[in-house]
Formats: sequence, structure tokens, C-alpha cells
Amino acid sequence: MTYGKLIAILPGDGIGPEVTSEARRVLDALDLGLTFEEAPVGGAGYRASGRPLPEATLDLAKRADAVLFGAVGDPEFDSLERALRPEQAILGLRKNLTTFANLRPAKMFAGLEDASTLKPEVANAIDLVIVRELNGDVYFGAKGRGTTEGGLREGHDLMRYDESEVRRIAHVGFQTAAKRRGKLCSVDKANVLETSQLWRDVVIEVAADYPQIELTHMYVDNAAMQLVRNPGAFDTIVTGNLFGDILSDQASMCVGSIGMLPSASLDAQGKGLYEPIHGSAPDIAGQGKANPCAAILSAAMMLRHSLGDGVAADRIEAAVSKALATGVRTPDLGGTATTRAMGDAVLAGL
Ligand code: NAI
Ligand code: MG
Repeated sequence: MTYGKLIAILPGDGIGPEVTSEARRVLDALDLGLTFEEAPVGGAGYRASGRPLPEATLDLAKRADAVLFGAVGDPEFDSLERALRPEQAILGLRKNLTTFANLRPAKMFAGLEDASTLKPEVANAIDLVIVRELNGDVYFGAKGRGTTEGGLREGHDLMRYDESEVRRIAHVGFQTAAKRRGKLCSVDKANVLETSQLWRDVVIEVAADYPQIELTHMYVDNAAMQLVRNPGAFDTIVTGNLFGDILSDQASMCVGSIGMLPSASLDAQGKGLYEPIHGSAPDIAGQGKANPCAAILSAAMMLRHSLGDGVAADRIEAAVSKALATGVRTPDLGGTATTRAMGDAVLAGL
């Protein structure tokens, strides 16, 4: 099923290349007949061609059957104008590939209770997926800087959704819940925001197609609270781009580390871009401290969602479980293992 499929590897900046190469080693070990092509992106893209998302990199991402992405972001380029900054590469890829549905599963791995900031009995109950809308919201609305009549500096970012954008992500939310425990929580801020009121109206309309799913609505501030109070109560969460970004980082700490959370960003045909939810972590880059599990688990999601090989995906996830069960831990999980040693442990688990 996977034989001859082309995977675009876009390692990016900071710890991106470090964790992506461990994911690549795991894929190689499975011997699935995949073809890999690598291209620079982010700060690395800027260095290579003066643009964070070089044309050749975007072409490769479009040609490929799936994209495995590391992370972008480089303090060296923080002073560049926004359009040239490394982070524009991931926004550009998501937009150009129309990967509007971002799946971010957060599940407690056995033995990581001590790494979670929550009480063990609270943390152990976590098994949820955040379905985050990825192509709209305040990230892509009109933005700018100016001066008020009174001469004060001003900045603005427009939060906007149209109903088609909400409808398509709502369907993904319901379908994801249907494959799980049948519970969907739609998170918004409908008490204050018009965007959220539209969101809620459309989600309720789409619910008519999924009578078997139990739908609830929650304001985002309450959702943030419930995520640390009783995260086991969540099954599937569907939410907008901004709220989903924040809630998923929060969920990651509940299960021990941001270095554990993979993600899939899917288009309407199931083609996808797969990446750990973390960034380029300049504070630990180049030191062999990065946890590669999120990148490795992203490769598993790629096999499951874009390449139709759920068996290989299960094998990778089981291998990560096994590796953690043997006590091998990177520093973010309270251990001393290097990125490479963690990758070795996962390979041993295969
Ligand atoms: P970050 O996710 O890179 O790091 C936050 C904290 O978590 C840091 O202390 C870091 O050391 C730690 N961390 C992250 N991943 C880890 C891993 N795999 N193992 C162990 N520890 C890990 O977020 P931050 O610091 O806000 O951003 C750094 C850069 O990354 C910025 O340029 C930002 O714009 C960019 N970024 C890029 C993203 C992407 O490429 N999709 C997503 C988020 C941030
Ligand atoms: Mg984030």
C-alpha cells in the first residue's frame, strides 16, 4: 500500500532536523518502500533561497503523497519583516495545501505520570483529540499596524470565519468523535464573539447529520479550566485556529511534555502534513536534548491517515510505549537520554 509513495521531509530549524531524523530512522526501519525527498524550509529556506518557503519546497510538498515537517523558527531572523520570517513557511504550507483540519491527539502514556503537572489519577484519564481549524481565524484575517487619531500606535488582526469553513471542520470533528467515544465538545467564545456565534450555529446545523454523537458547547476560558480540572471528561474537542493552538499546548503539558504531542493537518482528500506540535526550541537546539517522540508519533499518524497503513502506525505507537516503559527519557520527561538514545530505544521497541 505504501510502496513507492513519496514523502517530503521538511526538517526546518532548531530541533526540527534533530527530531525529524529520528522519525526518518523509524520509517526506514519499517522498510515500507517509501521514497523520501528533503527540502529546506523556514530559516533554512531563507538561508538557501531568500524565502522561508522556497518555490521548490512548496512544489515538493504538493507533489508528495505526504509531508513530514519538523519545526521552523530561528531567533537570527526575528527582526526580518513578517513575510520573510521562518514561521511564514508553516502558515504558507497549511494555506497552499489547504490542510484545514488539524488533529492533535493527547493521550497519557503509561509511566509518564511523574512528568505530568497533574495528579497521577487526573493525568491517567487523558485520552482526547483536539480538532483545530487551521486555515482561517485571526491568523489569516486582515492585519496591520497604524496610528490612532490621538497619535497612539495601534495593531489589529481580524478574527473571521465564513460558514463553509466552519462546516467542513465541524464535519471532521463529528467524524473523529464517531471513531472514538462518540462525544464532541465544540469550544468557542459565543458569549462575546460574533465569529463564535456563527461557529456555534453552524456546528448545531451539522449535528443533524450525526444524531449518534453527543454534542456539547463550552466557552474557551472554561475549557482551559476543565482541561486541568478533569481532562478525562473530554473525548473530541473541535475549535478554531487560535483557541486550538493554545488549548493543545496546554493539553501537552497535562500528558507530560510538549515533546510527546504529534499532529496531522489534513485536506479534504486526506492528504496531509504531519508535524510535532512544538516549535524549533532554540533554547535546547543542537544539544541533543530534544524529545523525538512527537515527531516519531507524527510519522505514525502519517502512515495511518495518508498512507493507509494503520498496522505500521500501530507498531510505531507500541514501540514508543515500550521505549518509555523501559525508563528511557529525554530531559523534558525528567530523564537524561539524548535525542538519539530515545530514537534508539524506539527502534529497539520495533
Ligand atoms: P517551542 O515549542 O519551540 O518551545 C517551548 C518550550 O518547550 C521550550 O522550553 C522548549 O525547549 C520546549 N520543547 C519544545 N519541544 C521540545 C521537545 N521536542 N523536547 C523537549 N523540549 C521541547 O515554542 P517557543 O519557544 O514558543 O518557540 C520557539 C520558536 O518556534 C519560535 O520561533 C516560534 O515561532 C516557533 N514555533 C514554530 C512552530 C512550528 O514550526 N509549527 C510551532 C510553535 C512555535
Ligand atoms: Mg502552538
